[in-house]
Amino acid sequence: MQHTSRRDAPLASGVGLRLPHLAEVAATRPAAAWFEVHPENFLANPHAAELLGEIARHYPISVHTVGVSIGSAGGIDRAHLARVARLIDAVDPILVSGHLAWSTHAGEYLNDLLPLPYDANTLAVLARHVDEVQQALGRTYLVENPSSYLGFAGSTMTEFAFLSTLVERTGCQLLCDVSNVYLSGHNMGFDPYAYIAGLPAEAIGELHLGGFTAEDDPDEHGGTLLVDTHADRIADPAWDLYGYALHRFGAKPTLIEWDNEIPPFATLLAEAAHADAVSAQALKLVPEKSVPAFRSAHATTDRQVRHAAAG
Ligand SMILES: [Fe+2]
Repeated sequence: MQHTSRRDAPLASGVGLRLPHLAEVAATRPAAAWFEVHPENFLANPHAAELLGEIARHYPISVHTVGVSIGSAGGIDRAHLARVARLIDAVDPILVSGHLAWSTHAGEYLNDLLPLPYDANTLAVLARHVDEVQQALGRTYLVENPSSYLGFAGSTMTEFAFLSTLVERTGCQLLCDVSNVYLSGHNMGFDPYAYIAGLPAEAIGELHLGGFTAEDDPDEHGGTLLVDTHADRIADPAWDLYGYALHRFGAKPTLIEWDNEIPPFATLLAEAAHADAVSAQALKLVPEKSVPAFRSAHATTDRQVRHAAAG
């Protein structure tokens, strides 16, 4: 099953379009390559939906769902999915994506993207739900790797192996959030470069970059936890990893995400321009220099050093 938009995704970097910038963008039409929106922001806000319709006439739009919850054991909320499908039909997005997570249970919507155990049972549930979403939306769905703070003792495969198998089973694509790979590697003690190397390059349809925040780790004295706040500029180690991701996957549409403490729109455009510059540089480097060329001194955290030393 292959579903495509009438429009191809641009390779120049785009920015997440949030409600505070909606009227400004509709009125001034800034020089952005494309926008990504959360459909849930528009389903009960007719004025915002009208502005989005106007913006979609002038820019490519990517739809990034936050409430579809493909990881919910109780099944997909079909009424919600139908509402998302109507918005998708209205804006004809270049890409449609959502998270490897669950956020609903027994009709309750939780305000978090919650983790899953990576095992055969979860894979069966996810594959069924991704099939259902792709059928309902009539589009290829891109599944995004989450930001991780804990793992399940019962997991039997790595996250990147889980995602690779999900691609094989459903024909879905992947949205690789490079910042999530970096912060999850820090928090969980894995090598983010090995994670990127383990993903199927041909299935990557989009990349995300977002700012994270370092907090004291309550479980480790003197340690830090990186929290996926989307409230700051992209950190240098994430830019390094982004360079490696592009080198490994080839040029891909990249989105700057900023959801809290939202800055002036010009700041988002500057981050997107920086992503384009990093991309141009990364795509020039020769393959055999891949990891050392991208892993700069600040990319290795104290926790990773301790993890590596422990074997
Ligand atoms: Fe993301």
